[in-house]
Amino acid sequence: MIDPTDTQQWKELSEHSSLLKVASLEELLNDDSSRIEDLSFEVGSLHVDFSKQLVTKDTINKLVALGKELNLSDKIHDLFSGEIVNISENRPALHTALRFSESSDEGVGEVVRDELERASDFSLLVRSGKWVGTTGKPITTVVNIGIGGSHLGPVMANAALRPFRKNSIKSEFVSNIDPADIDSKLHLLDPETTMFILNSKSFTTAETITNAEAAIQWLTNSLGTEKDFLARHVVAVTANSSAAESLGIPKENIFAIWDWVGGRFSICSSVSLAVMISVGPENFQLLLDGANSIDEHFKSTDLSENIPVLMGLIAIWNRNFLGFGNHALLSYSQDLRYFPLYLEQLEMESNGKQFRVDGERVTHHTSPVVLGGVGTDAQHSFFQLLHQGTTTIPSDFIVFCKPSMSSDALPEDTFLKQHEVLVANCFAQSKALAIGSSRKSGEKRSDGNRPSTTILGTRLDPYTLGQLVALYEHKVFTMGAIWQINSFDQEGVQIGKTLAASIENDLSLSEGFLDHDASTQSLLSIYQQRRGL
Ligand code: F6P
Repeated sequence: MIDPTDTQQWKELSEHSSLLKVASLEELLNDDSSRIEDLSFEVGSLHVDFSKQLVTKDTINKLVALGKELNLSDKIHDLFSGEIVNISENRPALHTALRFSESSDEGVGEVVRDELERASDFSLLVRSGKWVGTTGKPITTVVNIGIGGSHLGPVMANAALRPFRKNSIKSEFVSNIDPADIDSKLHLLDPETTMFILNSKSFTTAETITNAEAAIQWLTNSLGTEKDFLARHVVAVTANSSAAESLGIPKENIFAIWDWVGGRFSICSSVSLAVMISVGPENFQLLLDGANSIDEHFKSTDLSENIPVLMGLIAIWNRNFLGFGNHALLSYSQDLRYFPLYLEQLEMESNGKQFRVDGERVTHHTSPVVLGGVGTDAQHSFFQLLHQGTTTIPSDFIVFCKPSMSSDALPEDTFLKQHEVLVANCFAQSKALAIGSSRKSGEKRSDGNRPSTTILGTRLDPYTLGQLVALYEHKVFTMGAIWQINSFDQEGVQIGKTLAASIENDLSLSEGFLDHDASTQSLLSIYQQRRGL
């Protein structure tokens, strides 16, 4: 397997980076009249502006040539055609089939279609009030219990699509094993009108199973065990139906996902059942259509104009050639407030790795630390560092031309005016980061030259959300493909999971937990003393 750093293009990019490291973004932006045309792209309703990145057209050409040298187009083809791209787990990664029911693999297309139909029918029953609890009352609250990819996608999409939600159905999300999470939700809920979605691909995740058991206990306390309350109040989404059944969930209440969908790539599946219930199957289909439009773009557009490819290549440029170790995701949309969290998992769990698919250690950096927040709030917390800190953090700004108005609590004029101020703030921040204020002196000085991409949408609607999700999924794939790592496993996470189980055991042991490092052993002892164990 070829080490990316041994390619001709990697070497050329390294040389080329010495020019860009001393370039001025202000000059690049002012001196090149074709820069905006060269570095701005559109797909669907999204306008993507890379002109505030520390790149030139030549940089892009060289990055695209790197992609070609490392057979990126073949790897994209392999992804879509169901090749085993998740080598360590010996699976394809067919999340794109979730939004393209005419998948080339007929077996896959069929199960996707069937399952989507089942989930749609079910969500319509709940939305219409025809699905009633054991005491005959309609379900009014849906609680998703899941973690990681079985939480972050649904919670993000549910918030993002606020104006499209059916207001008579409330959604809650429980992820943390900290009992405070489920406790804080349950004490406000009525068991007679509450339904739980147990969302776990593996159905072995400790957090989810523990919270699921707590939820079932809570239902039992109020609804008793005589009636078959599980059938009316609990459903599951999993690839491990037998484990769900052994918890007492009837078969008809189990929605399938498959091992060929990675948890963090599963937002377009029944994992988003809570979202489907809250926004309705038609809106959910629009989300799938939006994601599919980007899949088509990713699959068929030349690398030089392929937006997710360019997002990935520019991220590699920032990480490997300009040496920036962080990346910020700044969403100028309150409804998109969970998108940075969602992307933290998508990017870092996928590409936070240092072993290539052939088992060799990489010879370059991989995923930057991805952090983020919602504008304008983040301006009043960590933006100071973005502007003047000693670390340069390339950023993505996401903003929409039209606001998401969903009620008449405020007059339309007021709403529009306020949204204008939001947009002005977004544009001002990316401009300030790029240009700075070197004319000021002393500590007021800001050097600028801090790169960013702006993604400008028309409005945050289901289709646009689907587009955004797929853009970042394919950006992540592009980066993994260039780095020759497997973006679809998460071996690092497993180590802590296994240890947690053994430490849990030791917490209540009076002696015999000597098999730990000195710090862990000391923490165990102090814990026991303070709990009086
Ligand atoms: O954090 C590890 C992980 O396996 C994620 O990849 C996944 O999204 C999450 O746990 C939840 O897994 P499951 O859906 O199997 O409960």
